[in-house]
Amino acid sequence: MNDNGKLIDGREVSKTILEEVSEDVAVFCRSHRPPHLVVVIVGDNPASRSYVRGKVKAAKKCGIDSTLLELPPDVSSDELLSRIDEFNGDSSIDGILVQLPLPGHIDQQDVIERISPSKDVDGFHPYNMGRLVADKPVLVSCTPLGIMELLSRYSGETAGKRAVVIGRSSIVGTPMALLLARKHEGGDATVTICHSRSEDIASVTAEADIIIAAVGRAGTVTGDMVKEGAVVIDVGINRVDDPNSKKGYRLVGDVDFESVLPKASLITPVPGGVGPMTIAMLMRNTLAAAGWAGRSEDEVP
Ligand code: GUN
Repeated sequence: MNDNGKLIDGREVSKTILEEVSEDVAVFCRSHRPPHLVVVIVGDNPASRSYVRGKVKAAKKCGIDSTLLELPPDVSSDELLSRIDEFNGDSSIDGILVQLPLPGHIDQQDVIERISPSKDVDGFHPYNMGRLVADKPVLVSCTPLGIMELLSRYSGETAGKRAVVIGRSSIVGTPMALLLARKHEGGDATVTICHSRSEDIASVTAEADIIIAAVGRAGTVTGDMVKEGAVVIDVGINRVDDPNSKKGYRLVGDVDFESVLPKASLITPVPGGVGPMTIAMLMRNTLAAAGWAGRSEDEVP
């Protein structure tokens, strides 16, 4: 196999999933109004703006209605929370996503916890995180969910395999480790979480069949740390200066692609690997949230 055959094409898989979601939305719309996603962005961070545009565009492609609320960078926390309250109480809205990061004067966790768990299409609310721990997920964080989808479509059995997740964030690392370890199709792996206080990460990754790099630091995983034949998933999106590029920078992941490629059996590129999957899973979560709108009170808090 040449090295191109090792690439996991997240754009292609994402396209397939968006087509699947479009078909499901069409069926759903025979008996319901279209699902409706609200995306909130605070401030003008260019990367966040670009992600949000991608989410709105994908929604349109799937037949999902979307509303984009753009708030100024100095919006008060109270104002943002009261807008979320309005969306929570609006039965024409199924999903609410507040793009992160938020400006420093707003407590991110307060915002996450304000979103009704049944509309939390990001899967960040502690209720949904708790459901994942209990192995009864409702809405699961989109990036780890997208990675599970890539592993199931590209890689073989995960049961009994050694997986290392580098990064312990509540958005990616922690749910990722839970999904890989749970007693479930696509899970059943032996999982280690490494983080900023871990010693000798290389000795852990050297034993791993699956490496998930999610720390947000370029060059975290290099070829010498990787076992021959490992599957390497790169969640990082880091800007590095590149005077040869028109923009003056280029995007790289947490994995040193050049040195890891010859060792890996499968690897996600950056861009075009994990990134597009996050959006595809968001669309799936939005449809699921719309479908759950009629569930009984004791199931939805
Ligand atoms: N910022 C970067 N990734 C994400 C995401 O998946 N959801 C939200 N809400 N903000 C993000």
